[in-house]
Amino acid sequence: MAKVISISNQKGGVGKTTSAVNIAVSMAVSEVKTLLIDMDPQANATTGVSSLFKANGTSVYDVLTRQTKLEEAIHHTEFENLDILPSTHDLVGAEIELVSVMAREYQLQNQLVTVTRDYDYIFIDCPPSLGLLTINALAASDAIIIPIQCEYYALEGLGQLLNTIRLVQRHINPKLSIAGVLLTMYDSRLNLSKEVAAEVRSYFQDKLFQTVIQRNVRLGEAPSFGKPALLYDANSTGARNYLELVEEILTRDS
Ligand SMILES: Nc1ncnc2c1ncn2[C@@H]1O[C@H](COP(=O)(O)OP(=O)(O)OP(=O)(O)O)[C@@H](O)[C@H]1O
Ligand SMILES: [Mg+2]
Repeated sequence: MAKVISISNQKGGVGKTTSAVNIAVSMAVSEVKTLLIDMDPQANATTGVSSLFKANGTSVYDVLTRQTKLEEAIHHTEFENLDILPSTHDLVGAEIELVSVMAREYQLQNQLVTVTRDYDYIFIDCPPSLGLLTINALAASDAIIIPIQCEYYALEGLGQLLNTIRLVQRHINPKLSIAGVLLTMYDSRLNLSKEVAAEVRSYFQDKLFQTVIQRNVRLGEAPSFGKPALLYDANSTGARNYLELVEEILTRDS
């Protein structure tokens, strides 16, 4: 049975998509059967791996609103162990269309159970909001990874996210746990990065991943080629950081 992990933080631009894409690909090359779900109407995760698969027109939008079977919207990629459930801009509409649907929080979960046997891990890239798309992701997840950018105000808004997690645990999905907190865009030359790291560590203690994702231009360049870092530049710091993170996740879960 797959472990389902949402990559979520309602704060924008903290490295959710970069992490979702590169964790999923690093898992796949470590021979772990992985599904990447793009739950963001911005569809950045889909674009980020677009060189790896051919879109057939179905997306997570059809699964959430058109009763398309999830299996039919899953795309195989050129990596044997990586599949993707892509997003499109239509997904903006799903948030509104779902409002009047019964059990609207469980639409993704209801469909996901049909494929959890087929994977070891399922990663969900969430949008920068705490709306129905994120709630659907959290309802379907065993755990959440929270990326935190090493920047001013890094912890701002985190209370709101933790509150949402508690509400989801209480009312929708009691099994949801925090898999880990991930520091992204870390720059070891900056005192600010060290200060943020210390603050996050004192707050989250052992929930903080030991692996830190450093600031690395390759991670920013790769998506414009539709490639994950491992394909764009396998020796880059970014590619190596995410491989190391995947080792840590697999060790924690074993
Ligand atoms: N470690 C890194 N080093 C350098 N650039 C990075 C790194 N991580 C992410 N970026 C860049 O920072 C920007 C924001 O990252 P990303 O899209 O992953 O964040 P996000 O949290 O998914 O954003 P959104 O909230 O809009 O979905 C992107 O341009 C990305 O390429
Ligand atoms: Mg994103």
